[in-house]
Amino acid sequence: MLYTVRVWDAPTRFFHWALVSCVLGLVITAQLGGAAMQWHFRLGYSVLSLLLFRLVWGFAGGHWSRFASFIRGPQGVLRYLTGRAEATAGVGHNPMGALSVLAMLVFLLLQVNSGMLSDDEISAAGPLTRYAPSDWVGLATFYHKNIGKFVLLALMTLHLSAIIFYVTRRRDNLVKPMITGDKQLEFEAVESDDSPRQRVLALTVFVVCGLLVGGGVVWLES
Ligand code: HEM
Ligand code: HEM
Repeated sequence: MLYTVRVWDAPTRFFHWALVSCVLGLVITAQLGGAAMQWHFRLGYSVLSLLLFRLVWGFAGGHWSRFASFIRGPQGVLRYLTGRAEATAGVGHNPMGALSVLAMLVFLLLQVNSGMLSDDEISAAGPLTRYAPSDWVGLATFYHKNIGKFVLLALMTLHLSAIIFYVTRRRDNLVKPMITGDKQLEFEAVESDDSPRQRVLALTVFVVCGLLVGGGVVWLES
């Protein structure tokens, strides 16, 4: 018998696909340069708002979106790798997947922060550049263009390769639950709360994060 379990609540799914769209837009606008950099900045601020939201949702979201449900110490990761993990280890992110998720979140945050301090010395300068010494700006621009960009590309390639591996080798389609929210499991498991009340809470948190980022940028630029 298979049980249908709500694993990814709607706010987490929205977060994921909005993040993917913004990151694609950031890569395209960075290549276009010139006037498109205005959109590079706006999309970067949207990513920051999404990341702040995800940080809060890691404590207030549905069960499987909470950091406590998927962050495991080295022992937990080792147990998973040696096939000794508890059955529920793969309901949300498995312990290895969780590491790549965390790495993506941390490096996206670093990319946004270094972007705020980046200057192309033509027309695009992040809102923090005017407050920082020029060698910091030089370092941040170097990181943004030559390190963070490649680390993120590597993490995203790993992310997509893992998903393809699960579909082709393990016959486990992880993408469908990231769209519909539900997984079919052979055992009963806790469901993520995806009630209208939670969705209203998520919307409120998201609006507050957006206002904080938008307000912060306007303040920095004034
Ligand atoms: C710009 C590229 C991408 C980034 C930065 C990204 C980032 C992320 C992040 C941060 C999570 C964790 C979600 C959370 O717990 O909040 C995640 C999970 C996931 N992503 Fe992506 N993602 C990208 C592209 C994609 C694409 C193109 C697909 C599908 C074709 C995809 C499918 C998934 C799936 C299925 C999960 C859940 C994995 C699991 O079950 O553990 N991602 N992604
Ligand atoms: C996750 C978010 C971001 C990603 C993935 C990203 C990605 C990129 C990439 C791939 C480049 C092109 C590097 C190259 O020329 O090879 C770039 C350039 C740039 N980005 Fe971002 N960026 C992000 C956020 C931001 C933010 C928030 C700002 C500023 C508020 C920003 C400001 C800049 C500037 C000024 C450049 C041009 C640097 C130069 O050509 O010297 N970026 N970004």
